[in-house]
Amino acid sequence: MVFRATFSVAVVSAVIALHGGGLVDGLAVWKSKATTSKQHPSSPYYSYKTFKKLGLPAILYSAVTKVATKVLGIKPKVVLPSAGYNSTLVSTSKVAVVTGSNTGVGFETAKALAVDHGFQVIIACRSAEKAKQACENINKAVEKSSGYGKAIFVLPLDLSNLDSVREFGRAINEEFPMIDVLVNNAGKNSAGEVTLQLDSMTMLDDLFTTNFLGHFLLTQLLLEKCSRVVNLSSVMHHFPIYSKNDVINSVDSVDFWKQAAIQPIEYGDNLIRKPYAPSKLAALLFSVELNRRYGDERFRSIAVNPGSVNSDIWRNYPSAMKYIFRQIYLTPEQGSTTSVAASVLDLGKEVVYLQPYWLPNKRKTTVVRLCPFPMLEMLGPYVGYQATEPRLPNDLGRKAAESLFALCEELAGCHFPAKLESRKSGEAEFHRNDKE
Ligand SMILES: NC(=O)c1ccc[n+]([C@@H]2O[C@H](COP(=O)([O-])OP(=O)(O)OC[C@H]3O[C@@H](n4cnc5c(N)ncnc54)[C@H](OP(=O)(O)O)[C@@H]3O)[C@@H](O)[C@H]2O)c1
Repeated sequence: MVFRATFSVAVVSAVIALHGGGLVDGLAVWKSKATTSKQHPSSPYYSYKTFKKLGLPAILYSAVTKVATKVLGIKPKVVLPSAGYNSTLVSTSKVAVVTGSNTGVGFETAKALAVDHGFQVIIACRSAEKAKQACENINKAVEKSSGYGKAIFVLPLDLSNLDSVREFGRAINEEFPMIDVLVNNAGKNSAGEVTLQLDSMTMLDDLFTTNFLGHFLLTQLLLEKCSRVVNLSSVMHHFPIYSKNDVINSVDSVDFWKQAAIQPIEYGDNLIRKPYAPSKLAALLFSVELNRRYGDERFRSIAVNPGSVNSDIWRNYPSAMKYIFRQIYLTPEQGSTTSVAASVLDLGKEVVYLQPYWLPNKRKTTVVRLCPFPMLEMLGPYVGYQATEPRLPNDLGRKAAESLFALCEELAGCHFPAKLESRKSGEAEFHRNDKE
């Protein structure tokens, strides 16, 4: 009953939201998206302009689902301490690297991995001071819980500086023989500034470089010794194009990614591109492509949406908005559940994307069907983590990933191999502790 009310509000809200763009158009979009699951039309994506119209309805939806969650007593799934691991083998050999782990979702992820799952967690942050403080806080929590994990600071990592990424990768490769999990978490959502000079011809977008290109290079540097890569995506992966009227709105084309990664952002016409949503689709495609190339029982990648989280990511937003976010968003600890689950659970091979909200699931399988309308994946009833079909192009993202890889390999000056060398030679250096 309460859920029916919830969905009525959601539908009404969505219609209100779409009305600004023309009710008829809006309903057409809703209808075409709602009926697509595996088969998408040529462009399955919503535009950033559609997203911007969702503000008020999303707040309403959040209010209703909060009440519904309480009334129905929905309890979130939790990732149990040491899930999937033999606690007697709690090891000093389990190593995780978590980027951007001095605050927010990254800090809570690092803390849970160290406290509950016995990892040595490398706190990979741009500020040495903040990283050391985070280590101290996490190690105190480990001590209090009589756990075995540890937070470690090695050296600063500034993802917007590719030289810093190379230096960090070199140091980790030298010090650690294997890495169980790399969590590509760091990110920002303020408008990209084109400030990073790559060469005399190319300026990199600061936001896209921090969120994606830096992680792309870091992953390439650590790939041979990595067993799992978790990429922080977002509900924004549904909205990567700026406007349906854009000249270049196919995520399959290299030009699409160029506009996010290197073109200056000019406000005021239809060619504006906001790089945040493309950077989050890139994170998702990254997981899909890593699995396609290297996925086997010793390697996999999972993309996660932490949900809408009240973290420092909103630091540059007006106070009034931050007040609303505090009321309706998840805590960073709740937001870390998808990352922790993706890091430690033995999830089925078909799982490539986790998000934290309840979604309607007519087919009761382990993976919930594609979210029929993205707003349900923003502020719905919080359930912890939920394997969900991501929004991918018709070919499951193959062309888009090819274009993304081609551009990013060129910009970062790196190359992803067709196969992993160490696995070809059969050296059993790669082992998951949960399989021991
Ligand atoms: N919060 C949400 O609602 C939400 C929703 C969907 C997805 N996400 C994703 O979740 C991830 C974590 O975000 P959050 O909400 O936890 O944000 P947050 O609290 O602001 O944490 C972001 C972390 O990234 C670090 N960082 C920023 N720029 C960096 C750089 N150039 N090099 C290295 N580290 C850098 C920050 O370091 P400093 O403290 O030094 O700035 C901080 O540690 C991000 O990828 C974000 O896109 C968040």
